[in-house]
Amino acid sequence: MVHLGPKKPPSRKGSMADVPRDLLEQISQLETIFTVDANKLKAIVEHFIKELEKGLSKEGGSIPMIPTWVMSMPDGKEKGSYLALDMGGTNLRVCEVQLLGNRDFDITQSKYHMPPGMKTGTSEQLWDYIAECLEAFLQSHHPDEALHELSLGFTFSYPCSQTAIDNGVLQRWTKGFDIDGVEGHDVQPMFEAALKRKNVPIHVTALINDTTGTMVASNYTDPETQMGCIFGTGCNAAYFDVVKNIPKLEGLVDLDPETPMAINCEWGAFDNEHVILPRTKYDVQIDEDSPRPNQQAFEKMIAGLYLGEIHRIVMLDLYEQGFIFENQSVEALKKPYSIDASLLSQIEEDPFENLTEVEDLFTTRFGIQTTEPERKLVRRLAELIGDRSARLSAAGVAAICKKKGIEKCHVGADGSVFNKYPHFQERGAQALAEIFGWHDLTPTQYPIKVQPAEDGSGVGAALIAALTAKRVNEGLPVGMKPEIIAKLSK
Ligand code: BGC
Repeated sequence: MVHLGPKKPPSRKGSMADVPRDLLEQISQLETIFTVDANKLKAIVEHFIKELEKGLSKEGGSIPMIPTWVMSMPDGKEKGSYLALDMGGTNLRVCEVQLLGNRDFDITQSKYHMPPGMKTGTSEQLWDYIAECLEAFLQSHHPDEALHELSLGFTFSYPCSQTAIDNGVLQRWTKGFDIDGVEGHDVQPMFEAALKRKNVPIHVTALINDTTGTMVASNYTDPETQMGCIFGTGCNAAYFDVVKNIPKLEGLVDLDPETPMAINCEWGAFDNEHVILPRTKYDVQIDEDSPRPNQQAFEKMIAGLYLGEIHRIVMLDLYEQGFIFENQSVEALKKPYSIDASLLSQIEEDPFENLTEVEDLFTTRFGIQTTEPERKLVRRLAELIGDRSARLSAAGVAAICKKKGIEKCHVGADGSVFNKYPHFQERGAQALAEIFGWHDLTPTQYPIKVQPAEDGSGVGAALIAALTAKRVNEGLPVGMKPEIIAKLSK
């Protein structure tokens, strides 16, 4: 009798027994270039910590590390009704949030699809569209009411230098946006002008990054939360530091050195100078063909906007070298950004050994007949891209924890990649375990847990508006003097 021991978990690679040698070689090369092993991850973390600190210094660095003027976590007792607007990468969402004062809330919301041309349209079109959505929301939820000035928490998730909680100068567009006349300007007056044009009785109380909102909202329901992350169309993180660790605030504000300050890291810009991330030739191509080359180096290897695109250009490259899709027309594959991260998810999730769901996808979406070995390569590639994204994300989380000396905490995470991409959460947790050496622990025992967040751009924005009002009532300064605007803007 042979003792077989416990059943092995099914291999994600599936069997490669019938894959011809030339394709196996290609798979092996892809594995080499897309794998970030534990040692490399640890080196990335150490470099990341230095870059986080550089970003906080007077000289600054690639990572913007923006003080947000959110200066406390909620205590759970916040109450009141607040409007919140979220301008994400794909949709616009308007919410009315009731904070119930016992770490609980109620939310009413409407979603509006951003018209496709808007990302590259004009600034006026953008602000007018947002104002119209707010108007439509008020008309459907408060018909025939005489509304007084309502205050709004505006989640505008792009790198903005903030000299006060209610303003923000857009440093640069990310996530494929390319609208003239906004970069280098404060977005708040432009938005309020559109509200005035349309007679919408609203003013912006707080301009918020989605990561800060996520951190605050998650801390409201789970006080162990110390960080907020978004892994969606873009990627980023926020955490709390204290004023004495933010040299770039020195001489600009008169605050107790121990005063907490939420930092919107804008870590998508990590390694813009390309010294540590293991970029492949495909990452270089994505960057060069993007509207903002040499920016968001980290984000372009991790975020949902780019995962499908990486997959597409690898496949095209292998096709052009004659390794896959022989005698097939790949015209449909030639369209930039024609594969999104959800397609990669579907590829990874095909439960059949012969990948018949992938076969159907390729026939219906691209008119390409695939062989089984080709599908195996296509799936392995999706796994490699997804795994790399999760592991690099974990390096960012680890860097913030190490910098802050946090050994145990919860991280609230949101975004389509975190919530929907298969295995993203487990792969990220595994990478954290490798970085911190949690070899004897099971995943449920890991001291740093990245877990699904509360709604940052709804509840988080409402809480930040409430916290801002509280600060005003307590007589604490909420904004900053105009003369520091120029100094803080980068
Ligand atoms: C933006 C960040 C944002 C992140 C997630 C990035 O492209 O620069 O501000 O937090 O995407 O939405």
